[in-house]
Amino acid sequence: MDKAIGVIDSGVGGLTVVHELMRQLPKEQLIYLGDTARCPYGPRSKEEVQQFTWEMVDFLLTKNIKMLVVACNTATAFTLKDLKEQLDIPVIGVIQPGARAAIKSTTNNQVGVIGTEGTISSGAYSQALAKIKSNIQVSGLACPPFVPMVERGVLSGSEAKTVVTEALRPFSSNKKMDTLILGCTHYPLLKSTIQEVMGEEVTVISSSEETARETSTLLDVHQIMNRSDLVPLHQFYTTGDLEIFIEIAKTVFQESHFQMLTIKQAN
Ligand code: SIN
Repeated sequence: MDKAIGVIDSGVGGLTVVHELMRQLPKEQLIYLGDTARCPYGPRSKEEVQQFTWEMVDFLLTKNIKMLVVACNTATAFTLKDLKEQLDIPVIGVIQPGARAAIKSTTNNQVGVIGTEGTISSGAYSQALAKIKSNIQVSGLACPPFVPMVERGVLSGSEAKTVVTEALRPFSSNKKMDTLILGCTHYPLLKSTIQEVMGEEVTVISSSEETARETSTLLDVHQIMNRSDLVPLHQFYTTGDLEIFIEIAKTVFQESHFQMLTIKQAN
C-alpha cells in the first residue's frame, strides 16, 4: 500500500509526532499539514476547531491518504469522534496513546496533564485515563503561553525557562505527582525545560512514541503497511510562514531526515 499517511496539526507541534513516525515506520510516506496561520487552536471554540480540522482533513483527502493521524490534542479532543465516524480510512488521535503511556509510567496513580485551555477544559485526558484505570488522580493545568512561544521558534534559553517556570508553578510545588503528560504536541519541543522545572523525580510523557506504535498496529490490522523498499519522500505543508516552519523543522529532524522532506506553502 504505497499511499501516504496524512498528519494534521495546528502548527509545528505535530512535527514531534512525525519524527517518531519516521523513526518507527521508515517505509511510510507522510504528508503533513500544519495550520500555522491559524495557530493556536487552544483558545478557540469547539465549533471553530472542528471547522478548521475538517478543512485540513479535506486538503489531505485530495492527496489520497490511506490513514489520518490527528497530531493536535485540541483537534483530537473536539473532533476525533466525528472523524472516526465519517471517514472511511483509519483515524488515530494523540490523547488515548498519551493516556496509555502515562498509565504504564505512574507508580502512585497521581498524574498531571498540561495542555491548551481547550484540551484541559474538554476533560478528554481525565476521561481517557479513567477508562483505562479508575483510581487515577488527574490534575489538569492549561499553559496558554507555550504554543505561541514555540511557534516563534523559542524552544530553550532564558525566555523559555521563565515562561515555563511561571506557568508550571501550581504543579512544580505538587510533590505527589510522579507523571506529567505533555497534552499538547507543541510541548515536547520544550521538554528539557519542562523536565528541569518539574525535577527528575517526575516522568514527563510525550504521546509521540505511543502514537507511532499505535499507528503501526492500525496499519497492520488494516493490512495497509507499505512493503516497498523505496526511500519515501515526505511532503510538508504550512498555511503560515514558510521560513519559520523550515527553521523549526531543522531543529526537530536530523539532517538525514530533513533531506527526505519537501516543505511548501499550502494554498
Ligand atoms: C494549539 O494549537 O493550541 C496546540 C495544539 C495542541 O493542542 O496539541
